[in-house]
Amino acid sequence: MATHRITDNVYSVGVGDPNRRTFDIVMKSPYGTTYNSYLITSGKTVLVDLAPEEFWDDYRYNVGCLCDFSDIDYIVVNHTEPDHSGCLKKVLEYAPNATVVCTAISKKFLRQQMNRDFNCKTVKDGDTLDIGRDTLQFVVTPMLHWPDSMMTHLEKERVLFSCDMFGTHYCEPTMFDEHIPMKMKEKYRAQTEQYYEDIFKPFSFFVRQALEKTKKFSGKLQAICPSHGPVIVEGVKEITKDYKKLSAQPKQSDNTEIAVVYASAHGCTERMAKVAADEICSLGATATLYDLSDTEQEQKCAAGIARADGLLFGTTTINCNAPAPVWRVISEIDVYSISAKPAGVFGSYGWSGEGISTLSAVLGGMRFKLVSDPVKSVFEADEDVLKSVRELAKNVFKIASETEHV
Ligand code: FEO
Repeated sequence: MATHRITDNVYSVGVGDPNRRTFDIVMKSPYGTTYNSYLITSGKTVLVDLAPEEFWDDYRYNVGCLCDFSDIDYIVVNHTEPDHSGCLKKVLEYAPNATVVCTAISKKFLRQQMNRDFNCKTVKDGDTLDIGRDTLQFVVTPMLHWPDSMMTHLEKERVLFSCDMFGTHYCEPTMFDEHIPMKMKEKYRAQTEQYYEDIFKPFSFFVRQALEKTKKFSGKLQAICPSHGPVIVEGVKEITKDYKKLSAQPKQSDNTEIAVVYASAHGCTERMAKVAADEICSLGATATLYDLSDTEQEQKCAAGIARADGLLFGTTTINCNAPAPVWRVISEIDVYSISAKPAGVFGSYGWSGEGISTLSAVLGGMRFKLVSDPVKSVFEADEDVLKSVRELAKNVFKIASETEHV
């Protein structure tokens, strides 16, 4: 991918990866991606974000087209995910006098990634750095989507280097959103929304914080320069509006809602689930049942758990484990939406019942607040077991109805 002039003193020097179809193991990238890096020449010479180590040759060529590495004064690392920081070790070999500018957490991560010391200036939220003819202002945005994430605002030139926020996996060789062919615009927009879903949805609370922090200058920007995908020139207002909409807090119902999820092979776990749901309803709350043998219900389940105030999860045991639909749902749960929500686990088994304990341990590891040990039944639950199921439901309801979630 060639270099491009974005504004008077800002250039794109990143690299393209048009053939990549899967990103970070689970994300689809049907239009490839780019690893964006920017060069600022407003007095001091500044690099913002880098490229993956395996793209070093292309990256070195791009930067070398516009400056000597030895002239680089600062390297701003907006976050340390290796697809953006991977080249840093090499860059520092060529630019030994450059100072890395990053948050304190980034400094620690970079030290661990490179296993070497380096010149570093750590910055905090709101700090500025005079670069001669312009000023960099740092906006620290933790959990977007790494703990060390920040954005960098080039004040006079009105450019926001937004790290991953506002980005997308979409390889547009000219690097500008305004050059995306008309017939691809809708696909680009859909891909941007998908990127939000894949990366930022669990961190919507932090997205809302970042939008608030950048509000004072976001309406005046000439360009948003994200770490993936096209530079946003034409769509600055639109993407900001889209992010407001995508990150909006879901409307909470006035009633306490408990998700009652179950995977039942022969009906015993299902009957326990229905007793738990009846108990929840008798307490004046809403119980939403999800039967994981039904594909449609399985697909709605993770979102339902995110929306609910508490969780009751029942499973059978097959091959010493909970069955696959249970783990598919678990893999889709946004951990930040469920942190400290109360949960209880139950289930019926015939032989050994390991799946129930494994599920309970996993939910605990994800930071659900487990109200007790799981309730287990060998085959059909008798009245004693059902009493324990009702108790479990009552305890989940009690904590759920007392807790407010962000
Ligand atoms: Fe490709 Fe979090 O970065």
